[in-house]
Amino acid sequence: MRISICENYCEMSKEAAKLIASQINLKPDCVLGFATGSTPIGMYHELCEMYKKGEIDFSSVTSFNLDEYYPIKKSNPESYNYYMWDNLFSHVNINPQKIHIPDGETLDPDKECEDYENAIAHCGGIDLQILGIGRNGHIGFNEPNDSLDTKTHVTYLTESTLSANSRFFASIDEVPKKAITMGVSTILKSKKIVMLASGSSKHHVIKELLSEKVNTAVPATLLNIHRDVVVICDKEAYYGNDTEKC
Ligand code: PGA
Repeated sequence: MRISICENYCEMSKEAAKLIASQINLKPDCVLGFATGSTPIGMYHELCEMYKKGEIDFSSVTSFNLDEYYPIKKSNPESYNYYMWDNLFSHVNINPQKIHIPDGETLDPDKECEDYENAIAHCGGIDLQILGIGRNGHIGFNEPNDSLDTKTHVTYLTESTLSANSRFFASIDEVPKKAITMGVSTILKSKKIVMLASGSSKHHVIKELLSEKVNTAVPATLLNIHRDVVVICDKEAYYGNDTEKC
């Protein structure tokens, strides 16, 4: 695992966007795994700026998002579908046919999970997967547990995630209790993984991750068994002290 400690959130976002741009320039028809949450928003903004300047071409890129609440309407501004169109897809030339996000509206979530897993395999697997990290160490919605599901599955969100994500909803009661998420082995099959972490609230989980131990109570630590992971974090996440935001 490599770690890159950036001065601040902006530098972290720029560094992550550059990695994605290099991946696209190296392999224009690459398969990218996207994450949502507040952390990657700056990275998506950078990617939109790079696209505007003609530095990247998304036309042959295939994308798979990590997860989606369940159930949720695509039109709900808190859905990850809405988030992705709002922060990236509407601003770049990605082919809508090549975009994949778990369907929060499906009536058959188990079939959706199976189809999603198969679709990733059919595309030859993910070349570069972006990840955030939950305050409880989750990746995607793989929540801390005694054992972890390997493949794309339906999961219940923990109280800590419901509470962390309630900041985006009118109240905690409106946060969907379930989600469809790639499983741990779906994620670990990605050829390269880039994890982003910002702010002192992530310091304790980043410390756990870098302890090089594997513990299902902190699902992100499973990344220690992958051979190509880069953690890009800001100083607050690494050292645990809050300084000014950019
Ligand atoms: P955040 O979420 O970026 O909003 O902190 C990260 C995550 O839950 O994976």
